[in-house]
Amino acid sequence: MNQVFNKDILQGKIAFVTGGGTGITGGVAKAFAEHGAKLAITSRKEENLAAMKAEVESFGGECFTVAADVRDFEAVENAIAATREHYGKIDIVVNGAAGNFLCAANELSPNGFGTVVDIDTKGTFNVCRASFEALKESKGQILNISATLHYLATPMQIHVSAAKAGVDAITRNLSVEWGRHGIRVNGIAPGPIEDTEGMKRLLMPELKEKLTRKIPLQRFGKIADIENAALFLTSDAASYVNGVTLVVDGGQWLLGTSLA
Ligand code: COA
Repeated sequence: MNQVFNKDILQGKIAFVTGGGTGITGGVAKAFAEHGAKLAITSRKEENLAAMKAEVESFGGECFTVAADVRDFEAVENAIAATREHYGKIDIVVNGAAGNFLCAANELSPNGFGTVVDIDTKGTFNVCRASFEALKESKGQILNISATLHYLATPMQIHVSAAKAGVDAITRNLSVEWGRHGIRVNGIAPGPIEDTEGMKRLLMPELKEKLTRKIPLQRFGKIADIENAALFLTSDAASYVNGVTLVVDGGQWLLGTSLA
C-alpha cells in the first residue's frame, strides 16, 4: 500500500483506465483505488481484467471491467458508455494501453510499425475523443502514459518512439483545446521501471547492473514511483498543471543512456 498521499485523495472519483489490467498502468489503477477512486478498467484480455478486479475487491475497492481494444473506436465508445451507465460519470481517464517489442527499423514491417502506432497513438486519441462529453460534464482529466524513447533516439524502438511522440502531441493539443472546458490533460513519461512486462521484454539481465550505474539516481524506478506521479497529477494538488508530460526516470534520458 502506497503511503505517500492521504488515502482519500481521490475519494468520489471515477477513473477509466485502459491497459489497467497489468504493469505500470495496473499499478496506477490499484493506487487510484487505494486512494478512494472507483475503477473502470479495460483491456483486450478478459483474464487480465478478472485478475485486477479480484485484487482490487480484495482490499475493498470497486472495479468495473469492460473488454475493448483501443484501436476499435466503436468498442471504446461502448466501454465509455457502459462505464457512465454503471457509475453515472467519469472523472479521470488514463491511457495506458500500449504495445511494444524490439525490432530493427530495417526489419520492421509496415504493419508492425502501424500496429504499435494504432494501439498507442490512435488508441489514445480514440479514448480521449470518446470520453470528451463525460469529462466536460465532470470537469475531469486525462493522463497519458508516454515514454522518453523519442527525446533522443532509441535503436530498435522506431515504432514506439514515433507512437509516443504522437501521444505527447495529443497531450499538448488537447490540453489547449479542452482546457476551456475545465479538462486537464497531462502525461507521465516513465524511465526504466523494474518488474514490468516491457522491461522483461526489453532488457537482458546482464545489462541491468551496467545500466543502473548510468542512471543519475543509481537505481531503476519502481511502479510505485509512477503511481505517486499519477496520484499527484490527477489530484487537486495539480489543479493548475495542464499540458505537461512529467518525466519520472531518475534523470536517465538526460544522459542519453539507451536501453536497447
Ligand atoms: N518483432 C517484429 N514485428 C512484430 C513483433 C516482433 N516482436 N511482434 C509483432 N510484430 C508485427 C507482426 O509481424 C505483424 O506485422 P506483419 O503483419 O507485417 O507480420 C504486426 O506486428 C502485428 O502483429 P500481431 O501479432 O498481429 O499484432 P497484435 O495486435 O496481436 O499484437 C503487439 C500487438 C504486436 C504490440 C503485441 O506485441 C502485444 O500485444 N503486446 C502486448 C502488449 C505489450 O507489449 N505490452 C508492453 C507495453 S510496454
